Parts: sequence; C-alpha cells; structure tokens
Amino acid sequence: RTGVLTVPVVVHVVHHPDVPEQNIGVEQIHSQIDVLNRDYRAANPDVSRVPDVWKPLAADAQIEFALATVDPLGAPTDGIVRAETGQAEFDVDDGVKSSATGGSDPWPTDQYLNIWVCRLGGGLLGYAQFPGGPPQTDGVVILYTAFGTTGTAAAPYDGGRTATHEIGHWLDLFHIWGDDDGACSNDDRVADTPNQADSNMGKPSFPHVTCDNGPNGDMFMNYMDYVDDDSMFMFTRGQRERINACLEGARASFLV
Ligand code: ARG
Ligand code: ZN
Ligand code: CA
Repeated sequence: RTGVLTVPVVVHVVHHPDVPEQNIGVEQIHSQIDVLNRDYRAANPDVSRVPDVWKPLAADAQIEFALATVDPLGAPTDGIVRAETGQAEFDVDDGVKSSATGGSDPWPTDQYLNIWVCRLGGGLLGYAQFPGGPPQTDGVVILYTAFGTTGTAAAPYDGGRTATHEIGHWLDLFHIWGDDDGACSNDDRVADTPNQADSNMGKPSFPHVTCDNGPNGDMFMNYMDYVDDDSMFMFTRGQRERINACLEGARASFLV
C-alpha cells in the first residue's frame, strides 16, 4: 500500500429520550474524527512525549477518516444517523447494532466503518469487532462519555482515544500485553512492542518493567494499552505492518 487511505465513517448516535445529552452534537462527533486524523497520522501533538528510546518506532499509519458524504443509496449525507432507543444501556452483545434490538442497523460494513455511540453498561468504554467476523455486527461501539473531546466527553477518557484504541482492534491490532493476564507467555504478534505482562491503567511513569523487558519496560503509552487518554500517544512501525496486512487482506474492500 502506498499513500494515505481515507476510510468513510458513519456514526450512529443511539440515544434514550430520558437522557437527552446522549444525543451528542455534531461538534463532538467532529472532535472525534479530528482526533482519529491526528492519531493515525502521528500528527498528535503528544507524540513528542514518546520516550527517546522509542521515538524511531512511532509510526504514521497513513489512514484518515471522513464522515461519509454519500449514503448506501447514493444520496448526500452528513455521515450521522440518529436513532432513539428504549434501551437504558447496551452491552457487548451487539444489541446496539440492530434496530430490532433497539439499536441502529449498520451501513454496508465493507464500505463504511460503522461507529455506534451509546450508553454502555459495566464500566465499558467501548468494544470492537476484529476483521473476519460477521458483516452485520462489524464496527466499533463507544460509550457516549468517552467519545470525542467536547460535549459529554468526561475525563480521563475525554481525549478521543477510546475510538483510536477500538479502531486499532478493527484493523487487527491486539492488546499490547497479549491478553495473558500477566503470564508473559502470549504477546501482541508485533515484534517492536516489548512483551509486557498485563494492561496498565491511569498515568504510569516510565520505565515500568515487567516480563524481563528492562531497561525500557512496557510501552504503556501505546494506544493498545489501557492507560488514560492523556497518557497514550503512539502506534509503532510493527503495528502499522499488521494494519497494512489487514488492509491487504480481510479489509481490502476499503482500499478501493
Ligand atoms: N475496551 C476498553 C475498555 O472498555 C477500551 C479502553 C480505552 N482506553 C482509553 N484510555 N480510552 O476498557
Ligand atoms: Zn481493547
Ligand atoms: Ca510485542
């Protein structure tokens, strides 16, 4: 792949009439798209905070995101679908992705990145479907208070990084710690991210050594860890390779 890919996005705002602020404004949606366009181009100002030892690894993923301008029937659109729901909250069961279960039906998932914004239960900030899954549930779901940087976005998840993280999964990136609960036995299948034991939360200080990964330790400032939004600011070259493999494979329909 050469050059920058632009991914068309549709944002489904699924809101309950009792909580009007769930029906987030256009400005907040644009603030999220802006974050994605910085983070996936390594144009985020905080990339300057990457520790010197890893600065050569910080990568421009060469992907941009644009709210759709044409809907599935060919009509002009602002790329935003608003759906009122009777559901007080949604779960990881994909209910938000179907009007039959109080959500909003996806636009063709091989042509649009579908992002659903809603209330999620259980302290969940968001979830994603990896490439290769069922088309009708493909996309990412983001909690309405962890979406964008304005409006209902609430600290410490008001930097738009939940969507950066979940779209990383949508592009086939695994968690940087390999989801092995501290065992150090599984990793993220990316060679240039150090093997690390478990997720990091909050605002860790560098270095944080686990799994004999000293002296530099965990790359907790990677978007695929679980730290606060203001503490994550990089993808690596190796992660870009996985993203490119995904775009040449399971998500080739986006390469047009
Ligand atoms: N799926 C993860 C969760 O719900 C997302 C974590 C995103 N992290 C962040 N700083 N925004 O916990
Ligand atoms: Zn995740
Ligand atoms: Ca790794």
